[in-house]
Amino acid sequence: MRSSGNEHIQRCPHSFAGTKKRLCYLLFLVGWFAVAGCQSSGSERVYRIGFSQCTGGDEWRKTLLHDMKRELAFHPNYTLLYEDAANNTARQIRQVEALANQNIDLLIISPNESAPFTKVVEAIFRKGIPVILLDRKVNSELYNAYIGGDNVEIGRMAAEFVGKYLNGKGNVSEIWGLRSSSPAQERHKGFREELKKYPGIQVTSEIDGKWERDTARNVLNTSPDKFKNTNLIFAHNDVMAIGAYEVAKRNGLTDKLEFIGIDALPGPSAGMQAVADGTLKASFLYPTGGEEAIETAARILEGKAFKREQILTSIQVDAKNIRGLKAQSDKLLSQQADIEKQSQIIEQLTQTYSFQQNTLYVTLFSLLIAIALGVWAYYLLRARKVAYQTLEQQNEAIRQQKNQLEDVSQQARLATEDKLRFYAYISHEFNTPLSLILTPTEDLLSKKSVSPYELRASLSLVQKNAYRLLRLVDQMLDLRKSDAGKQQLRAAEQDVVAFTRDIVKDFGRKAEKQRIDLQFLTDLTVQPLWFDAEKLDKVLFNLLSNAFKYTPKGGLIHVRLDQLDGQIRIQVKDNGQGMTPDEQAHAFDLFFSGTRPFNLSKGLGLALSKEFMELHRGSISVQSTPERGTLFTVLLPLSNKHLNPSEQIIPDVNERSNTYQRSVELNNQPEIVSTLRSPEKSAATLLIVEDNDDLRTFLSDRLGSEFDIVAECNGALGWERALETIPDLVISDVMLPVETGLEMDGLQLTQRLKTDLRTSHIPVILLTAKGQSEHQIEGARAGADAYLTKPFNTTFLLETIRTTLANRRKWQQRLTSDFSTQTGNRQDKKFLNELTSLIEQNLSDSNFSVQKLSREMGLSRVQLYRKVQALLSMNIMDYLTEIRLKRAKYLLRETNRTMADIAAETGFNSAAYFTTFFKQHSGRTPSEYRKSPVGT
Ligand code: FRU
Repeated sequence: MRSSGNEHIQRCPHSFAGTKKRLCYLLFLVGWFAVAGCQSSGSERVYRIGFSQCTGGDEWRKTLLHDMKRELAFHPNYTLLYEDAANNTARQIRQVEALANQNIDLLIISPNESAPFTKVVEAIFRKGIPVILLDRKVNSELYNAYIGGDNVEIGRMAAEFVGKYLNGKGNVSEIWGLRSSSPAQERHKGFREELKKYPGIQVTSEIDGKWERDTARNVLNTSPDKFKNTNLIFAHNDVMAIGAYEVAKRNGLTDKLEFIGIDALPGPSAGMQAVADGTLKASFLYPTGGEEAIETAARILEGKAFKREQILTSIQVDAKNIRGLKAQSDKLLSQQADIEKQSQIIEQLTQTYSFQQNTLYVTLFSLLIAIALGVWAYYLLRARKVAYQTLEQQNEAIRQQKNQLEDVSQQARLATEDKLRFYAYISHEFNTPLSLILTPTEDLLSKKSVSPYELRASLSLVQKNAYRLLRLVDQMLDLRKSDAGKQQLRAAEQDVVAFTRDIVKDFGRKAEKQRIDLQFLTDLTVQPLWFDAEKLDKVLFNLLSNAFKYTPKGGLIHVRLDQLDGQIRIQVKDNGQGMTPDEQAHAFDLFFSGTRPFNLSKGLGLALSKEFMELHRGSISVQSTPERGTLFTVLLPLSNKHLNPSEQIIPDVNERSNTYQRSVELNNQPEIVSTLRSPEKSAATLLIVEDNDDLRTFLSDRLGSEFDIVAECNGALGWERALETIPDLVISDVMLPVETGLEMDGLQLTQRLKTDLRTSHIPVILLTAKGQSEHQIEGARAGADAYLTKPFNTTFLLETIRTTLANRRKWQQRLTSDFSTQTGNRQDKKFLNELTSLIEQNLSDSNFSVQKLSREMGLSRVQLYRKVQALLSMNIMDYLTEIRLKRAKYLLRETNRTMADIAAETGFNSAAYFTTFFKQHSGRTPSEYRKSPVGT
């Protein structure tokens, strides 16, 4: 097989080189690990060996190349760059020069001819590239090694065979290889020299076969007769000998003519087979030296010792030894074939191994990547978890801060609300005494003449309320001082028994009036104690005032004084309405509102009392049971060890005590006679609902001259009284005590009055200290007809009452004129509609009575009577009659029904009675009415 180009043969540890390389690249791409694994088996240096052959076309050359390749298998790091010149010297020179320029590490050359290659080989050698001459030589010593058979010796062996075969006599022809090649020259030389020993043998002709079978055949074909007298033809190689034999055979010369050649190659069409077949009488083994060339090249490249001239041995192959040799060579060939097969299998296994190894690398690498990714993912997950936890913690912290903020803002809001409520109540608390100062004052000023009694009563009221205001202002100032931390204790040693007794005594008249069992209980006669008289006075006054406020008539209030464990204990106990646990817990909080409206007298006074007791290093506490009573306990330490010098004073005996003010406030209560009535008073009944006794009395007195007055002190009683009396108008304070939770304030009372059928018609005027618009809106929403803020002008109040009553009367008149179509108070309209339809439904029933009607309406007879009277200004019976007449008139005008029919339908037992009744009420008989024109 010929090849004009380079044939690159590379040997890897496994010849699955391409795949491996690709895998290497792949692995290189996917990671260092794979590359490292791949490279671990190929770390040896790679050598490039150039090999130039004169020809590659014949069997001997193919065998040579094959032998080289087999040997190369042991050198995986060698790359063979092979060139075939196809017997063309010029081409081979070009190829060799090209190889030398391709960075080869060594050149093996089998030159076509000797002389033309001498310079080329020398130049390459001088370049430092080692040169091995294989089989053929050049005319120079500048090479590293020569490997080849001993061609002179082979020529001699051939001559010796010829001499003996021809028994020293005969004619011989010599077919030359290429004359300019060294083997041809040396074989000829040896042959001729040895043949001289057989003078009877003549070389009759020389033929130029140029190593080629066809060349030899062609030459012989031109003159076959020339060999008629030739006994033997000696060819320089077997292929030319066989070619000559073929020509001779065709020309019938083979009987007398014998052939010998050189090479003795094994194989079916080569020299050894030709000897076995008898085609050739003998051949001479000429080894290729392929293996030896690679071995020598390896030694040179690896710097080992090598033979410069390696002459390969030759043997004669003829009929005598052909069988053994052939058997051996066949065996060798078959073994070689087996070895090649095995090596193919090994190669395949290696490929598989390599593939598996690479797969393993990839798998391991993937596994490593997966583990790394897993570790990374785990790390990320952990990091995320940690971050999440941190975030959670931060969130939690933020949440807590937010909650704290919310709590604080809630507390702030509640505190603000409480403060606002506190201010509202303070205003209320101020407004009531102010009203009771302003109202009687204005009243006195508006009158032309005033009786001495009236003057004294009014001024007493003014004085009492002015003191009340003073006390309130005093409390406020005390609070302010406490708030600012400026409250200073001014204690002196005094007899606490006498002190307490005096205060209790001051409440004596009040107790008498309210029929309360007030007692001061103590086993002590005199007890000196360091205390601030002004402050303790305020505390005890406050406790007693509260006790009176919440203890009903006929109750008890006991003040007890004892000495106990180095302390003085003062207890104020009542059997009044008591406190809820929540109220107890916050009894001393200034701004606590709890579920009930703020109560100034309790809140402010108790908060202050606590402050004062703490200043004394004492304490105040409360125990209470709802509906059972309350016990306040004050504890004060004996001696003055606990007091700073600045807190101890010498008592000023002239210092004005609170006693006078207190007695005015408590006892100077002029009797305002509520029964004073003006003779020309109106029939209208007013219900006054006001918790402040003074104001209630004042209003009752002031309005009593013009109206019938009923008065109550709280919403629940007010409601009961309203149902009982069905008054013409209600005047109510908005802020009414709602201590037990069952009672109602003024707004709730108004709402109740306005939604109940029995009372919905009653106008309501609300009186309050609250001037804010939202409270007015609340009032309007509850259904109040008017809203007056305290302190109010009595004249204005009177006018408002009169106007409201007048409006009510007009409203009644309107209702009376056309009760069914009026618009107005929804409840009233509903009431009238219900009443009217009930009457209409029962019109034909002559037994239908007011009693039955009131039952159906769910009212008492009196309530129904009063309600109808109030709404329509007419008796319920008159109203019944009115409806009957209206119905009768309708039936007379709109139907042709008989008098008897109409009488029966309108509830009259007889037509005669109907006619009489009709005439009495309308001035005409029913027949006259029927005939008269519409509209009259
Ligand atoms: C092959 C060949 C062989 C011979 C050798 C001499 O090309 O002709 O037959 O022995 O070359 O170089």
